[in-house]
Amino acid sequence: MNAAVRGVVRTALARKVDVVGFLHGYRGIISEELIPLNSMSVGGIISQGGTTLRTARCPEFRERAGREQAIQVLRDNEIDGLVVIGGDGSLTGARAIHEEFAFPVMGVPGSIDNDIAGTDYSIGFDTAVNTALQAVDKIRDTAYSHERVFVVEVMGRANGFIALEVALSGGAEAVLIPEIPFSLLEICNNLKQARVRGKRSSIIVVAEGAARAGDVKDFVHKNTGFEARESVLGHMQRGGSPTTFDRVLALRLGAHAANRLISGFSGEMVGVDGNDLCHNPLSYVLSTERTIDPEKLLLVDMMAN
Ligand code: F6P
Repeated sequence: MNAAVRGVVRTALARKVDVVGFLHGYRGIISEELIPLNSMSVGGIISQGGTTLRTARCPEFRERAGREQAIQVLRDNEIDGLVVIGGDGSLTGARAIHEEFAFPVMGVPGSIDNDIAGTDYSIGFDTAVNTALQAVDKIRDTAYSHERVFVVEVMGRANGFIALEVALSGGAEAVLIPEIPFSLLEICNNLKQARVRGKRSSIIVVAEGAARAGDVKDFVHKNTGFEARESVLGHMQRGGSPTTFDRVLALRLGAHAANRLISGFSGEMVGVDGNDLCHNPLSYVLSTERTIDPEKLLLVDMMAN
């Protein structure tokens, strides 16, 4: 997210537009927590995870009264447009103030879950996947040495995008995602057959929205007799220095968002389509479901044989 802020600020300044940052997201608009952002303010932040502007959940913004307060603060401070970086909740708020008050907004997709339609990638996904992958690579050493099954739980809320990418790149024997029904019994049978073929350790990647790693571990142990362990990766996936891919993505999206907003566009979210920048109405983004690529799922199974 810091790289995106840097992209917004330096693009706007190049176009002679002043920029302020609101701390703590929508909460900071309502409570008027704003700081001027100049070129120096965003120096040295490109390599930092998290967000230097901080963030917060803001239940007040879900109510019209809260949004009215926010709009008043924006108008009092002579803010002409707002770039909103975030996931579903943040973008829903952006659409609301665009539709209700005709306030100029531009969304930037930021979520490790990569569940936002209208872009192939959202900021943070690649870093989260790489962090989880490093953990899986390390866990595999114990799985191999001790001849165990490891069930690794990754984040993703109600989606399996992180799980699928980690399973593919980490050479997992199985992946459980909420989008596609699965049979734990079938997975156990596959593990038993694999053992007959000589495979003595396995990794199962579980999306947090599909099952709990501990429950899967217990089931696998009970139905195969194999020694099994679980590992819940948790919030380590949301931090750390961003990957090259994420930094470049965030910079490009931040710059594109600033350019679109300054050029008079509103109610959109910027994104990438392949390697090209794109933009879509927030109404489309928020009413469209991003779907799993079933070929990737098949590939996990095929590679496990
Ligand atoms: O939406 C991003 C995400 O990291 C999900 O993958 C996860 O379920 C959730 O946020 C965790 O939220 P919190 O930090 O509030 O527990």
